[in-house]
Amino acid sequence: MKVLTLDDFDLKGMTVFVRVDMNCPIDPDTMEISGTKRIEEAIGTLQALKESKVVVASHQGRVGNNDYTGMDKHAKVLEKLMNREIKYVEDTIGEAAQDAIKNLEDGDILLLDNLRLCAEENYEFTPENAANTIMVSRLSKFFDLCVLDSFPSAHRSHPSIVGFPQVIPACAGRIVEREVRNLDEIMTVAKAPHVIVLGGSKVPDRLEAIRLLIQNGRADHVLLTGLIANVFMRAQARIKSPLGIKREDEVVAKAHALIGEYPDVFATPVDIAIDKDGARVEMDVREIAKTDKIYDLGPKTIEYYSKLIAGAGTVFISGPAGYFEKENFSFGTKALLDSVANSMATTIVSGGHLTSVLKRLGLAEKINHVSTAGGALVLYLTGEKLPMIKALEDAAKKYRSK
Ligand code: 3PG
Repeated sequence: MKVLTLDDFDLKGMTVFVRVDMNCPIDPDTMEISGTKRIEEAIGTLQALKESKVVVASHQGRVGNNDYTGMDKHAKVLEKLMNREIKYVEDTIGEAAQDAIKNLEDGDILLLDNLRLCAEENYEFTPENAANTIMVSRLSKFFDLCVLDSFPSAHRSHPSIVGFPQVIPACAGRIVEREVRNLDEIMTVAKAPHVIVLGGSKVPDRLEAIRLLIQNGRADHVLLTGLIANVFMRAQARIKSPLGIKREDEVVAKAHALIGEYPDVFATPVDIAIDKDGARVEMDVREIAKTDKIYDLGPKTIEYYSKLIAGAGTVFISGPAGYFEKENFSFGTKALLDSVANSMATTIVSGGHLTSVLKRLGLAEKINHVSTAGGALVLYLTGEKLPMIKALEDAAKKYRSK
């Protein structure tokens, strides 16, 4: 591997900064964590650090979104899962956080509060500038090693990801190690046609990635689901009224441009399901009315998409196909996962939501690579070098040349 791992260091007695990604789904009614998969995954690395003083840090949600909250709940979940004490401080880089770090003993684990409470963590930096942030200058002096294990945020050049490796040794944690090894292997055997099944809610990010996937020969067919399918149907004027999403005009214009440039690549739904007083009502896309809430794909779309999946050499699926948390509207998500699992292609399933549905369906064993990462994995597959991977490779070169 081009990056260092935990096995390259004598970890005993070290004070270690571990950047994890515990960004979990949050139930908007209770503000409680509704899926703990990413917290469960972090445990492997924490166990490997059992003789170190461990400071764990993550973001949760985006400032202004309704999943933006403190990490106190995450500390409780981790405590329960690991069946041991997890120290928690309601601070990120201030005096309280620094005192808590100074007081750690070997074997202790301390979780900091949501890193995005620190303004700097909401901006992209060059690695050199990230090293000069207040976050990195205040905290790095306490650490012997930085462990990057937040693969789902590997595409973000935030100070906690690209800043620390500039000033202290850095290596991959167990999640990043596994992801990089598996994905590198898969990408060397990946065959055309490449079918991408793309849903999820982070539409602007997805649009950028789609262009790169097509340009880099990684997407022969893009089958659209969820909110992004609605954006494309709006660009095709098949949905007549506004969707009411952020930056709608801009994203619809981008989708329109993509369809114009690559007319044979995109597949959009032919039928959908809407919510009518809690009931599922299926209809042709042409029948959608202004007030209808589109919550799922319809059976004709599943049949159409499943044929393309069956003919694929490689399939990558990311993001749920609809409002899968409601049983009535989980049909599309489940049916597409079933088609992917039963295809002869090399298969990759991405994102926390799909990963948990896959597990519930008992289909995980049939998939070549399952990852809780969403946007980061989409970008990784475009062939672009992710900021976290670049930071780890540079750190390894620096360490090995000493
Ligand atoms: C994710 O869930 O994709 C990661 O945690 C990154 O989150 P972000 O898109 O808010 O940076």
